[in-house]
Amino acid sequence: MRIKKIIILLIFCVGLLSCKKDPEIKTSVTGEIEDLYAPVIPKGWPQPVYTFQNNPVTYNGFTLGRHLFYEPLLSEDTTISCGSCHMQIFGFTNGPSHALSHGVHNLLGTRNAPALYNLTWHGLLRWDGGAINLENQPLNPLQDKHEMNLPILTAINRIGTSAKYKDLFKKAFGDTMVDSQRLLKAMAQFTGLLVSYNSKFDKVKRGEDGFTSAENDGYTVFKNKCGMCHTEPLFSDYKFRNKGLPVNMYQDSGRYGITQSMSDLYKFKTPSLRNLAFTAPYMHDGRFKTLDEVLTFFTSGVSTSLPNLDPFMAVPHSISTQEKNNLLSFLATLNDYKFINDSRFSEIH
Ligand code: HEC
Ligand code: HEC
Repeated sequence: MRIKKIIILLIFCVGLLSCKKDPEIKTSVTGEIEDLYAPVIPKGWPQPVYTFQNNPVTYNGFTLGRHLFYEPLLSEDTTISCGSCHMQIFGFTNGPSHALSHGVHNLLGTRNAPALYNLTWHGLLRWDGGAINLENQPLNPLQDKHEMNLPILTAINRIGTSAKYKDLFKKAFGDTMVDSQRLLKAMAQFTGLLVSYNSKFDKVKRGEDGFTSAENDGYTVFKNKCGMCHTEPLFSDYKFRNKGLPVNMYQDSGRYGITQSMSDLYKFKTPSLRNLAFTAPYMHDGRFKTLDEVLTFFTSGVSTSLPNLDPFMAVPHSISTQEKNNLLSFLATLNDYKFINDSRFSEIH
């Protein structure tokens, strides 16, 4: 545990150092505070799926969403907020000690809390695509008995009777009315602005930095073995696939649970490979603690008898020790310390 703390501290120190030379996040040059809270589409990236068309982002809307994201009043026993399972220091995951998400009354879910960043580029949300967009997603954790276990009407009532939130809703929407639509829209303004695009990889692509030869060789391994599913620049195409993970004790059937279509059995949404230094453990149930374990699975753990196994995983793959080390060096260039330390996304005290 102590070693973990030291590693986290080190990550932070490196993060703080690397922050200084990064360009400021701004989309215009007027210097207005709203500029810092405008949705960003980094150069060369595709158009997002969720565009804020019916939910224009404002500083006050985002700030309301930020308060709500860290608000434990939104759970039955007022102990859990969205930020409890999605912690910024861990890339907005539940962190290394929680393979499965941990909700009210210490209840465990059956899945690992995914990292929250670049969410507006996802087609469907959740490991199984069970949420159709960023505005609807919070209804799941709010009402799930293993997560926050609070009926939305109770949530509205608690927030609506709080003087702090009356003020925040007035600033964001013009009057003090609290309803689910406003609550969900404000939350989507916060989660939708969690954009991670300042890793070393991004800087290399922008011509601000260069890869070492190990990183460059690792990039080649990545393109040959990983890039067809974990596609650049988001490092996922967010499609559903069966990567060949042996079925877990919960018999989690993945996308099949939503569509009931046999062709979706054991498919899970491909996650991004950005920020892996912060987001362990890995996979939909957090079964792998390290990237070493992930790569060992890749070369020798694939369950080839599963239905719908992705054809690329059905053939054996080998990765030499050298290739593995280079690949790990490349993957480390995808860690975005600026994002992890960005004060706009932290809890407001
Ligand atoms: C008890 C832990 C927990 C809490 C509290 C929680 N989440 Fe999550 N979150 C999860 C888990 C687990 C998943 C994956 C669910 C699944 O795939 O079945 C998830 C998925 C998500 C996703 C989808 C990410 C993706 O990659 O598809 C978003 C967005 C999200 N949560 C936002 C929120 C918001 C906003 C709140 C507060 C209203 C919240 N979460 C509260 C555990 C939690
Ligand atoms: C056939 C498509 C495909 C290929 C090729 C592929 N992956 Fe994946 N990857 C997935 C899918 C799908 C998941 C989600 C699996 C799950 O949890 O059920 C995943 C999950 C991961 C995760 C877990 C991330 C997290 O947030 O939990 C890591 C790490 C990862 N892959 C790394 C790699 C690396 C490194 C390579 C190349 C050596 C690779 N993958 C090749 C499809 C692929």
